[in-house]
Amino acid sequence: MSVPVLTFFNNKGGVGKTSLVFHLAWMFSEIGKRVVAIDLDPQANLTSAFLAEDDLEALWDGDGPANTGRTVYQCVRPLTEVGDILPPHSQRISSRLHLVPGDLGLASFEDFLSQEWPHALDSGSLYRPFRILSAFWQVAQQAAEQNGAELILADVGPNLGAINRSALLATDHVVIPLAADLFSLQGLRNLGPTLRKWRADWHKRLDNWPEPTFPLPAGTMGPLGYILMQHGERLSRPVKAYKKWADRIPQTYQQMISGGPRDLTLGPAAEDCLARLKHYRSLVPMALEVRKPIFHLTAADGAIGNHAYAVKDAWSDFKALAVAILSRIEPKTGAGHR
Ligand SMILES: Nc1ncnc2c1ncn2[C@@H]1O[C@H](COP(=O)(O)OP(=O)(O)O)[C@@H](O)[C@H]1O
Ligand SMILES: [Mg+2]
Repeated sequence: MSVPVLTFFNNKGGVGKTSLVFHLAWMFSEIGKRVVAIDLDPQANLTSAFLAEDDLEALWDGDGPANTGRTVYQCVRPLTEVGDILPPHSQRISSRLHLVPGDLGLASFEDFLSQEWPHALDSGSLYRPFRILSAFWQVAQQAAEQNGAELILADVGPNLGAINRSALLATDHVVIPLAADLFSLQGLRNLGPTLRKWRADWHKRLDNWPEPTFPLPAGTMGPLGYILMQHGERLSRPVKAYKKWADRIPQTYQQMISGGPRDLTLGPAAEDCLARLKHYRSLVPMALEVRKPIFHLTAADGAIGNHAYAVKDAWSDFKALAVAILSRIEPKTGAGHR
């Protein structure tokens, strides 16, 4: 059995994907889940949220333990020559949370993935094309196995290129962060057809290799719901403008997912919204400074007075969101998490 992969996706940048993965990875681990976070964005923002600059430099420039990869790219790079995937040497963030770090070098894998895509439909040997196209999934699963993780969270960049296609075909559940604006709505409209096409194309490839010699991802990419991110709201913007876009989201989301396989246990349309996340204001720079989630800030970090109350609220907000996500991934047991 493979470990479920949850990807936060939307082809609009700056919506809050990376912040969500960072906070939810921490929160899932707080409520007792063992988690692997994997940074599949060549910008590596998730990695720099978790690790200090000196540690990053050592990861990117130095040598890791022999025959392991310390970043996603180091794990998959041998595929570009004659080698195979290297086992990941993930970073321990806490007892229940591990990170497979990102790497700016990953950008150079994009063209390679693109070239390999048609080869999975060839009639010759299919080992290498499938090894390459499923490489992110293989690395994520190996990291999960090494650390006994029950859940994998993936962060990706804001585009519809070959790296993200490979990230998404490695994905079981997609969560879509949105802002109430034109760009997010437009992004959401592109997302549905793209996910459906990637899913169908991957299934065509799977059909072409009836007896694979290693496990492959199913390419489910099932939409789990959206999260309305409110931090992008400009204070000067009239409430009416916000409402106009916010009101359109439920229907646009429904159109986006219709036509794709949908988990029938999800219930009526109103439940497509997993959460509305507020603007955490000055807690955000405070948390970035110490590389902690905002709900871990203490008085020593500067979270005193009203900030201390806001930290408690953030804890409840993210806990509710994590529980809501779990209850959709594991409908029978999700409600029982402490
Ligand atoms: N809930 C929030 N409250 C305040 N600021 C936020 C919130 N979520 C994200 N941000 C800020 O918004 C910016 C973009 O977020 P990021 O997670 O990097 O987006 P993406 O990964 O989608 O590009 C960052 O500066 C981040 O700190
Ligand atoms: Mg990001």
